[in-house]
Amino acid sequence: MSQFFPYRDGRLQVSGVAIERLAEAVDTPFYCYSADALEESYQTFAAALSGLPATICYALKANSNQAVIKTFADLGAGADVVSEGELRRALAAGVPAERIVFAGVGKKGSELATALDAGILQFNVESLSELKLLSQVAQQRGTTAPVALRINPDVDAGTLDQITTGRADSKFGIDAREARDFLLRNRSLPGIRFDGLAVHIGSQLTDVAPYRTAFQRLIDLYLELRGAGVPLRRLDLGGGIGISYKHHLQQQIDEAAARVRDYAQMVRGLVAGLDAELVFEPGRLLVGNAGLLVTRVLYVKDNSERRFVIVDAAMNDLIRPSLYDAWHEILPVRSPAPDTPLRPVDVVGPVCESTDTFAKQRPLPPLAEGDLLVFSSAGAYSFVMASTYNSRPLPPEVLVRGERFAVVRARMDYDTMIGQDRLPDWLEDGASADRQPGARVRARGVA
Ligand code: LLP
Repeated sequence: MSQFFPYRDGRLQVSGVAIERLAEAVDTPFYCYSADALEESYQTFAAALSGLPATICYALKANSNQAVIKTFADLGAGADVVSEGELRRALAAGVPAERIVFAGVGKKGSELATALDAGILQFNVESLSELKLLSQVAQQRGTTAPVALRINPDVDAGTLDQITTGRADSKFGIDAREARDFLLRNRSLPGIRFDGLAVHIGSQLTDVAPYRTAFQRLIDLYLELRGAGVPLRRLDLGGGIGISYKHHLQQQIDEAAARVRDYAQMVRGLVAGLDAELVFEPGRLLVGNAGLLVTRVLYVKDNSERRFVIVDAAMNDLIRPSLYDAWHEILPVRSPAPDTPLRPVDVVGPVCESTDTFAKQRPLPPLAEGDLLVFSSAGAYSFVMASTYNSRPLPPEVLVRGERFAVVRARMDYDTMIGQDRLPDWLEDGASADRQPGARVRARGVA
């Protein structure tokens, strides 16, 4: 059991608040995060890098709730953003523009303009076309864009195929072998100032070896370009440090701390004596193990040999198991008596797709309708990937700190969900009645 998710009197808590109490307050399904865990993971990472000239730019894509971003911003974090929406979220949460990096392979001109006007730290550029567009937009605005060239180091990160980004066949970055010429050829493009190089080889890395290879390639190139007279001064080492999904919660946190120590030690070894500011873009590491998705068992049914536990959360709320076959620990909120026999069950959601399955043949204690369960390690890439598929409103998010909690995003209400649609004029009541007097259908609200 973790200090942030302890069982007290046989009931699972988030920090000092019982999950049953949260479920009464907001209904299920809902996400909850421990602010104490967020702070601890940030401090652990920052402490591991202490003394290095480093800016930690939290990768908002992992969890972009304003309260989460502000928790990190208050601890001194910057932000890694990949869209104008994320840029706006970071600024709204109080992240200073000069600590924001804008990454991503497909930034639009309007997004570049907004970021230039905000005065961000760095644009991570990934193609010649993007560089030319940035040059144009910067000139129009009479300003200069600070650029880091994202290199594709052709390193296999050894993670899931869907989340690897540093192999030669991926859409990300500029081929490391061409990067030198690319930069020298374009170094005097108007409105562009090359400040550094960037790399990000994938997500959920559990081994430091691929990092070492990629960072070494980046540093070699950095030294070569400085030798050729390009005044580079910054290296962006990306994110990707993995967390543990498969173990019990305290163990997860201990393992993450050990991985961070190894990573930091490796980086220190590589950058010793190097004249370079560093940027890090961790996402999952900072939030992944700080959050849970809480759900309630709706029905239990036996179909041929299998037992299905049907819960009120679905793939629209947490898509990682359906999309990546990702494994999330499932824990009952009421701890079973010791020695309770486990039995394999399929845990599934209500969405009308077979892939709306959270776990197959997972050994769990006996479960009854109405029981609360949690999916652990659901702080990263979980709420942010939720959708309203099957017209299920987005779930709420709750932040707990010590004994206090706050709803940091309310459950989407039905009117908001339906109210975003607009009828074209030919379907408005009067118009359709004119043309099809017999076929008039009226939408009726539910009282
Ligand atoms: N920097 C760049 C350029 C990235 O593309 C990413 C993640 C990060 C930083 C942060 O990576 P992290 O530290 O969180 O691993 N939806 C997938 C993960 C996609 C990661 C995309 N890029 C999942 O649920 O596992």
